[in-house]
Amino acid sequence: MDHLLGIKGLTAEDINLIFNTADNFKEVINRPIKKVPSLRDITIANIFFENSTRTKLSFELAEKRLSADVVNFASSSSSVKKGETLIDTVNNILAMKVDMVVMRHPNPGAPHFLSKNVQAKVVNAGDGTHEHPTQALLDSFSIREKLGTVKGKKVVIVGDILHSRVAISNIYCLKLLGAEVMVCGPRTLIPKYAESLGIMVEYDLRKALEWCDVANMLRIQLERQDMAYFPSLREYTMQYGLDKALFESIGKAITVMHPGPVNRGVEISSDIADSANSIILQQVENGVAIRMAVLYLLAGKIKSLD
Ligand code: CP
Repeated sequence: MDHLLGIKGLTAEDINLIFNTADNFKEVINRPIKKVPSLRDITIANIFFENSTRTKLSFELAEKRLSADVVNFASSSSSVKKGETLIDTVNNILAMKVDMVVMRHPNPGAPHFLSKNVQAKVVNAGDGTHEHPTQALLDSFSIREKLGTVKGKKVVIVGDILHSRVAISNIYCLKLLGAEVMVCGPRTLIPKYAESLGIMVEYDLRKALEWCDVANMLRIQLERQDMAYFPSLREYTMQYGLDKALFESIGKAITVMHPGPVNRGVEISSDIADSANSIILQQVENGVAIRMAVLYLLAGKIKSLD
């Protein structure tokens, strides 16, 4: 691959190569000296046109752990506010001899557009409601770490599937790795095409939890909702929130995940988010190793062209 634009287009072999590379980098970031010189000759620009905590910090740390030179760009404090186009902005950054661009953008397809119009490797850090490939990779990597394998595991993704790039990328990734995948949420937040992706759809959270090994609880993406998809957050929580009483009534040890940011008390209660069954912080830790692997493998491509 010249770029990482989505999980769509990757093969299971590509993903396993990323995971095996991330295994090595996970060992590196747990050493007293957490740094390797692998990308010493590479400059990476992180350009974020949308808010981020985890993804932005995780990419930046991954780049620094690989000894890359790093520049950061946030649209809120840039000349984009003065009317500059995306291509002009990025070409100006590239004129400063940048090799790779990590971009988050609110418009689906923005990184694909960029990859066709600039001379740099592009990594999609989330494009609107479309894809968030490194999140899906770190999620499946975390399942593999916790349960030994992804193949054959039953994973339910719960909540606002309609507006979620995390859900779409996870569905592609989990299917490629041989998991059984279900989505669960209100009818209004499940896309009509869901079953055409080869996944199951369940509207009853209890039944979904009884079926699964892993529950990935998503945030309600109010910032992307142009109408009321359910009567109130309180009613959503009553039907689709995961709390201790529901969890304990299922009577088995489900692994609980969340991509963050977590809205505690809405899609998940604090006692479940902070429980031994939750791997939310392991997901964040694994994000650095996965992003190191992605950048390292893409940069290898740059070097092979030299
Ligand atoms: N999971 C995720 O993409 O979080 P951020 O929006 O904080 O980057």
